[in-house]
Amino acid sequence: MWRENSCLKPKPLTRVAPVPNKQTMAHAPHKPLPKKLHIKTFGCQMNAYDSERMAEALQPQGYDLTHDPAEADLVILNTCHIREKAAEKVYSELGRMRLTKEHRKERGLDTLITVAGCVAQAEGNEIIARAPAVDIVVGPQSYHRLAHLVEEATATGKGLVATEFPAEEKFAHLPERPKGKARASAFVTVQEGCDKFCTFCVVPYTRGAEFSRAPAEIIAEVEGLAGRGVREVTLLGQNVNAYHGRLPDGSSWTLARLLRRLAEIPAIERLRYTTSHPLDMDEELIALFGEEPKVMPYLHLPFQSGADRILAAMNRKHTAAQYEALIAKVRQARPDIALSTDIIVGFPGETDADFEETLALAARARFAQAFSFKYSARPGTPAAALEGQVPEAVKRERLHAVQSLLDRDRHAFDRASIGRSLDVLFEGRGRKPGQIGGRSPYLQAVHAEGPETLIGQIAAVDILAASPNSLTGVIKSGFEWRGPVQAAV
Ligand code: SAH
Ligand code: SF4
Ligand code: F3S
Repeated sequence: MWRENSCLKPKPLTRVAPVPNKQTMAHAPHKPLPKKLHIKTFGCQMNAYDSERMAEALQPQGYDLTHDPAEADLVILNTCHIREKAAEKVYSELGRMRLTKEHRKERGLDTLITVAGCVAQAEGNEIIARAPAVDIVVGPQSYHRLAHLVEEATATGKGLVATEFPAEEKFAHLPERPKGKARASAFVTVQEGCDKFCTFCVVPYTRGAEFSRAPAEIIAEVEGLAGRGVREVTLLGQNVNAYHGRLPDGSSWTLARLLRRLAEIPAIERLRYTTSHPLDMDEELIALFGEEPKVMPYLHLPFQSGADRILAAMNRKHTAAQYEALIAKVRQARPDIALSTDIIVGFPGETDADFEETLALAARARFAQAFSFKYSARPGTPAAALEGQVPEAVKRERLHAVQSLLDRDRHAFDRASIGRSLDVLFEGRGRKPGQIGGRSPYLQAVHAEGPETLIGQIAAVDILAASPNSLTGVIKSGFEWRGPVQAAV
């Protein structure tokens, strides 16, 4: 689920800029060249969602996506500040972009460089001071102003910084999503920001205070996506299960209530949500795993550390035993659930004994998927100032140890799928020619030989083999193409 970087793929079908008719084209002395946009995305799924919304917001200005930064009139780096390595990547990337900008200049072409995302929010003006080739710095709450900022930067040639707007404004002012066909699986941000202040984490500072979008706005967005061929929606939030979307009458909906409502949309066949915090995993939400078949049996629930002393120092506000009791309850509601987690090793003050407790908890929990990280001291966070920072070599060793345990459990989970029939939502071509690929209910990547007409649909697959990163199988015979879903919403 974690993505270090990715380029947004061009989607030729979704351009909304008006196409002039033949007559006006014949009279137009110079048809302006369409402008090109290159977006490189770092960090979490919310950044991936934001990148899509930014690309959509720039379409009316004539920007089409390109893979090639050298072709791009506008480059956006959508950045992540969560660990030092992620944040530093931005500057090496900016070094490359500066060269591209210079080469384009030699060809008489201008390039606007924009830094968006969490580094933009955290560092603001400093980015332009350190990398003067940057034209625009835009924080995650200001994307609705991007089109305007691009216009202004083009006109004035001055560096612009926009980092101080509340999330409420962004969602109200972003343009509607386009109408063209979409991929089968889509992200929708429902909650943004965080009030938990874990002592290691920058998110409360980069994404601001917790904010939930209104249920009606989310329902409309998901219905729109369903009409464009989306079959699976993953609701996103830094703390998604703290969701509390207000209704006009002042009452509010929990995440469980929202999921139940979205499950009523016929064309939406699968629902997921991420990332959840253990403290906000309420009974209603747990019960939904057993009650609503559209809610997929997968839960990403970070535990960070197995040692209570460290959990307290992290300000996670729960103990290891409480976490284990919680996952036991989740498993009771849905025994086959795939549990996923995040772990930090080498938090300040973490002893060998503390780390052993992390290993022991992970071993007992048998995670189907997990993400583990070396603690990275982030400027301005309380943990960065703590005594007992753990040496790099110790962190490396611990990371290695925990990752081999987690890999073993992940492979065990995947191997247990061999011989089972799993419903797979096919999302695109597979790794080998003739194959198509998609995800099982447990979010495993699955490849099978099959016709591309199945892309965008769910089909049962008999799983035959498990390799380290994916499963392969055969599509069950007798599967009939159901055709495009009519009356999608
Ligand atoms: N909101 C989510 C996590 C968002 S950040 C939650 O509360 O669980 C994703 C993951 O990055 C975290 O779960 C944590 O494991 C890791 N992380 C965050 N800050 C970090 C830091 N300073 N060093 C190392 N890992 C960190
Ligand atoms: Fe960061 Fe903690 Fe908030 Fe998650 S809950 S985003 S780890 S502060
Ligand atoms: Fe990174 Fe910001 Fe997401 S810091 S993890 S891009 S919320």
